[in-house]
Amino acid sequence: MVESISMMEAPRIVTEVPGPRSREMLEKQDKYETASRTYTRFFRMAVDRASGSTVMDVDGNIFIDWFAGICVLNLGHNHPVVRAAIERQLDRLVHINEVPTEARVRFMETLLSTLPGSLRNRAKVMFTVTGADACEAAVSLARHVSKGRTIVAFGGAYHGVAGHIVGATANWHYREYAGLSAQDIYHLPYPYTYRFPVRMAEEDVSKAVVDMLRYLIRDPYSGAGKIGGVLVEPVQGEGGYIVPPKDFLPMLREVTEEEGIPLIVDEVQSGVGRTGKIWASEHSSVTPDIMCISKSIGGGIPTSMIAYRPEYDEGLPPGFHLGTYRGNPLALAAGEAILSYLKSSDLLPRVQRDGRKILEMFQEATERNPKLGEVRGLGFMIGVEFAGKDKRPEGEYVERLKHALFQNGLMMHSCGHYGNVMRFMAPLTIEDELVEKGMEVFERESRKLAGK
Ligand SMILES: Cc1ncc(COP(=O)(O)O)c(C=O)c1O
Repeated sequence: MVESISMMEAPRIVTEVPGPRSREMLEKQDKYETASRTYTRFFRMAVDRASGSTVMDVDGNIFIDWFAGICVLNLGHNHPVVRAAIERQLDRLVHINEVPTEARVRFMETLLSTLPGSLRNRAKVMFTVTGADACEAAVSLARHVSKGRTIVAFGGAYHGVAGHIVGATANWHYREYAGLSAQDIYHLPYPYTYRFPVRMAEEDVSKAVVDMLRYLIRDPYSGAGKIGGVLVEPVQGEGGYIVPPKDFLPMLREVTEEEGIPLIVDEVQSGVGRTGKIWASEHSSVTPDIMCISKSIGGGIPTSMIAYRPEYDEGLPPGFHLGTYRGNPLALAAGEAILSYLKSSDLLPRVQRDGRKILEMFQEATERNPKLGEVRGLGFMIGVEFAGKDKRPEGEYVERLKHALFQNGLMMHSCGHYGNVMRFMAPLTIEDELVEKGMEVFERESRKLAGK
């Protein structure tokens, strides 16, 4: 384990929040930047620096970070291993289009060595830039392979916001597979047992969803059209940190295999160690046909990619999916260092062990909270859903809680269909002490707001 680099005095609040210097910078930001910003609505500060699992604002307040840039910083801010890899690469070059560099080749070799099942050391890699871009490429590839146009996704899914601009690109061949209109998508319910829309025993939920999928594929009058691929998050992220029942992904794998339909697993948020294995799919021993990878793979430098079955490469024309910045050398140097670290350190077993412990801590912290709905999670992907009588979502309570936590030096974000789920997504390297101190703040403020 690398030595702790967090600012251990966190949470340290020395001014009102936001402090005077933060307010000044926030005002300037308001003046220059779009009103459509989201995070600055609840994290009201200007940042000076960050290290490990802590962030310092320009007024000297230090926050515990349970946010990690939305799972972008799985090793924490400024991790020495990541930093050294980026610095080494900086001395060589920062950008080149597609031609091989040592960073690119070493990254692919390391990535391939981590992939599940038959993808291991065999998959092909296509670089993209953002999570959404990786999902776009995955969908285009699945359609190319299957010759189907409709993609099946799931309620609560988040795969990014992109996909229309290809329609304005004049060269028609780019539009043959890319771009998803609402008519091209069919959403099935995710096996979200706490809020499954049909009343049934929890153990039957996966089968119900997969039976519906089979019906969509097989019945020419289902209305779904020819299915070109199934796109799924192995643990749902923005939808509410929902861990599906254990049998769901294997059943999904079985039916897609039977029907010859590509299974796309979106590991953008759940991947790179977040759930205690490098890939969340590994928990259910499922091998996707196409995997979408982003966020923590670049250690904070934007990059993404898909890894897919090598057979899918057949007949793929040059420029099938394009973008100027695909495979940035700094990001790939960071990614290689991160994956090597995950493979060789004791971090992943720790995430599994501590993930269970932290989940129990959340259960204890919310034990007598009348607004608690459910605590669930896998590894360091833990969701605390707040709901009142008859599961009425407590979105407003969660908004107020998020604000109160921040005022007290804890950065924690929400998610869920109704914005009523608090999510724990701290860096995997977080010190026990910062988990305990954060949990004290969480318990105290959540009780206070619930009047308990
Ligand atoms: C599972 C998943 N897929 C795709 C995306 C989109 O990634 P990006 O915001 O980089 O486009 C996200 C972003 O949160 C995500 O959680």
